[in-house]
Amino acid sequence: MAIRLGDDAPNFTAETTEGTINFYDYLGDSWGILFSHPKDYTPVCTTELGYTAKLKPEFEKRNVKVIGLSVDPLDSHKGWAKDIEETQGVALNFPVIADADRKVSDLYDMIHPNANDTFTVRSVYVVGPDKKVKLMITYPASTGRNFDEILRVIDSLQLTSKYSVATPVNWKDGDDCIIVPSVTDEQAKEKFPAGWNAVKPYLRITPQPNKVKGTAA
Ligand code: BEZ
Repeated sequence: MAIRLGDDAPNFTAETTEGTINFYDYLGDSWGILFSHPKDYTPVCTTELGYTAKLKPEFEKRNVKVIGLSVDPLDSHKGWAKDIEETQGVALNFPVIADADRKVSDLYDMIHPNANDTFTVRSVYVVGPDKKVKLMITYPASTGRNFDEILRVIDSLQLTSKYSVATPVNWKDGDDCIIVPSVTDEQAKEKFPAGWNAVKPYLRITPQPNKVKGTAA
């Protein structure tokens, strides 16, 4: 059955460029990104994996562990990693699953036969420290992903997991937030000492709470 938001992220043990990895053990208490790419030695994937490696300090800041996947075998991943380093100016610094038997791809429904019956699509799963699926995005092979957007979404997921806020259109870290409708004005007085602007009773804008001194999580 298809995975849905809020489901337990299926656990697995797989061969990767960094040895055999159990997904849950690898994540530990961190957030996780599991992403698939269609094929090794392809141009778009080469740029995606290089850029993801460059973002390592950003992932570390957010306590996020990354793991990639394609259905190519380990020796192919290892050879291609040299090309990524040569062309993108950065070495792979996260594991890439060699899913030649499609065990993990099938578990996460990463092969969409009407797009391609052999290769994985560009799936992204964000998993929380509770091992629940927090976000899923699917791109076709022809379109490289925007990993800055994935960081932005993780900022929102981490913020909204701690505070009673949601993030508006095109929000980025530091921007104002929206107080969730389930919080009454009375409760909001305690939760949001910086106050809010009620554009409508259901649209209450408040400064990003973790940037306001004295706001409790
Ligand atoms: C690529 O990564 O460049 C790619 C992979 C599969 C199909 C098309 C492009």
